[in-house]
Amino acid sequence: MTARLDGEPKATGRAKYATDNNFPGLVHGYVVLSTIASGEVEAMEVTAAKGAPGVLAVYTPFDSLNLSATSSPIAGETWTPLRDNDVEYHGQPIGMVVAETFEQARDAAALVEVSYRRTPACTSFEDGLADAEVVAGGIMGNDAEISVLAPGVESIEDALAASAVVVEATYRTAAQNHAAMEPHSAVAVWADETMTVYSGNQGSNLQALELAGALDLPVSSVHAVNPYVGGAFGGKGRCSVPAFLAAGAARALGRPVKCALTREQVFTGTANRPATVQQVSLGADENGTLVAVRHDSWSSTPISQTFIEPTSHGTSREWYATPNMAISQRMVPLNIPLTTFMRAPGEAPGSFALESAMDELAVALKMDPIELRRRNSSNAPPGNDLQWSSKHLDECYSVGAREFGWADRVPNGRTDGDWLVGMGAATAMFPALLFPATVGITLNEDDTAVVSTSGADPGTGLLTMLAALSAESLDLAPERVTPRLGDSRYPAGGMSGGSTATASVGAAIVVAANEVLDALVTLAASPGAPFEGEEVTYADGRVQGETGSLTFGELLRAVGRDALSASGSAGPGEERTKHSFGSWGAQFCEVRVHRLTGEARVSRMLGVFDAGRIINDTLARSQLSGGMIWGVSAALHEGLEVEPDGRLANADLASYLVPVNADIPEIDVRFIEYPDTFHNPVGARGIGEIGIVGVAAAIANAIYNATGIRVRHIPITIEDLL
Ligand code: MOS
Repeated sequence: MTARLDGEPKATGRAKYATDNNFPGLVHGYVVLSTIASGEVEAMEVTAAKGAPGVLAVYTPFDSLNLSATSSPIAGETWTPLRDNDVEYHGQPIGMVVAETFEQARDAAALVEVSYRRTPACTSFEDGLADAEVVAGGIMGNDAEISVLAPGVESIEDALAASAVVVEATYRTAAQNHAAMEPHSAVAVWADETMTVYSGNQGSNLQALELAGALDLPVSSVHAVNPYVGGAFGGKGRCSVPAFLAAGAARALGRPVKCALTREQVFTGTANRPATVQQVSLGADENGTLVAVRHDSWSSTPISQTFIEPTSHGTSREWYATPNMAISQRMVPLNIPLTTFMRAPGEAPGSFALESAMDELAVALKMDPIELRRRNSSNAPPGNDLQWSSKHLDECYSVGAREFGWADRVPNGRTDGDWLVGMGAATAMFPALLFPATVGITLNEDDTAVVSTSGADPGTGLLTMLAALSAESLDLAPERVTPRLGDSRYPAGGMSGGSTATASVGAAIVVAANEVLDALVTLAASPGAPFEGEEVTYADGRVQGETGSLTFGELLRAVGRDALSASGSAGPGEERTKHSFGSWGAQFCEVRVHRLTGEARVSRMLGVFDAGRIINDTLARSQLSGGMIWGVSAALHEGLEVEPDGRLANADLASYLVPVNADIPEIDVRFIEYPDTFHNPVGARGIGEIGIVGVAAAIANAIYNATGIRVRHIPITIEDLL
């Protein structure tokens, strides 16, 4: 198995992240944040800051960088700073000080005096619920309300009323911060009418488009570079505030500018996962067959409505077979920081509600919760005729149940000294999507190949995947393939988001490899070439003619060329009108709750996943176990707390809890491998997001099994279990 190609440079410190780029004359920007949650900046007194040692400039809404509104073709509109003096949340970027050193910029930023005109702020989800609005269209392109009713059924209420067993409950999930290891940061260089921006993101060509829009430059004049990204998870899907500000200032000052958010600033200067409230009603017959599923969701969203968490759409719309389904999404606009995609947007918090409710239904029916899920497995999403291209969820459950020892689970848990021990399970699902991607391949006269695409590897393993899949398509040893990512001048890749990159880039590699190998055999048989007029084939790095064979490098040298290049593109195609696509999994966990202290410890975890072909077992395991760890974090640790004045009470990694090694048990990840060539020629579906899905519910279900306490919100804390 090929090791992670970026492992060695990352582990040795050779990998250059955005702020590792230094240039002569480089200066430093420090972002100024608002200290009220709602209103307007009336004035900013910057005289003292401008007179402080080393200060070159202070940018504010009144002395702005003239950034324009901009957007990403995949993620939609991107918020750009200093365009007006509105304040919509506490901690909103409202300025930047630029100085010769970081310390000078930071100290001068403390001298900026801001006067505000305050307006009433709504920061409480509970207060905002009264004004909740139906999402029209939805940022993820969803309908606000979807209803599927069996013939003769008038309403979802009727379907529920006619069900033999009904469970109804309200679940809540906390807002979460994108605390990626690499804070959002950028270095920008303006030279020769070209803006070069080094900044971690999920797709360099998308970042170049956003920057070009904000700076009113042709996209050909913007060069976005991000060979290494210290974590992204959806939080770097859009161009960041430091990148916009550094680029604007670099152009204004004619000096390279570095700008990085501090860890605390990341909490409000970027974007978060929304909080949700979800009402779920499940109706079933006596045998546990679902008759009706109702799922109404409310998602927090900032006043600018950047994003809602599509929980109803992410789970109840697709997961289980039911003749009657009604789902809705409503937004609760609040004076809170921007919201955005975070690993499994929709499915992660949505599965907490749906899979907790399924467990509650199993209890009501006195049925094994896995048996209940088996009974309701779907061949297609409800109300949709397109069957899943490949779905082996039952096998995930049977393998998982056997390996995890599910048969030992007892209805009221067991005890081990002072510990109450329970087991829980939950389904995981994530739709299998594709984004358009283009890959370029160059065959060199030294018998090596270079494969490039502008996409990013934010730790997912895409770089390694690019080499492995190209080697496969070119019939070469992987060592002879040099993969290149993270530069907007490479052929436009997709986004490392939506669990799409391997499938999208993999499909484009197949096309590009066919193109370049076709060109190679044509070249070999062309007039004056070694196999002129002959039937020529290609295998194992060699062109084979009727009169002999040459490596492709030998052939290129023989015809006096140093290289041969081609590119190939792929994207969602006709197959998507014939099937529905998704990855599936079964999450198992064992939790120990201390009888006296209420402390909950996850003691064992197993995830069994059906995600098509697994290309690199090591990297795939790392993706899935990372997702499962984040699931533990969501279930037991993470949650942003908003004060009434709109400040975040826990905007740092001392008070915003994330798990440490001692919180995470051995994690067992298994794959049920059925290559899905309906989805793409490589046969792989996405694995980036499904690992987190279902984990929080599996933990809550295990806690119920252990203690008899049903906690319907996450994070679950000690207070809930005393
Ligand atoms: Mo991600 S939430 O797939 O960008």
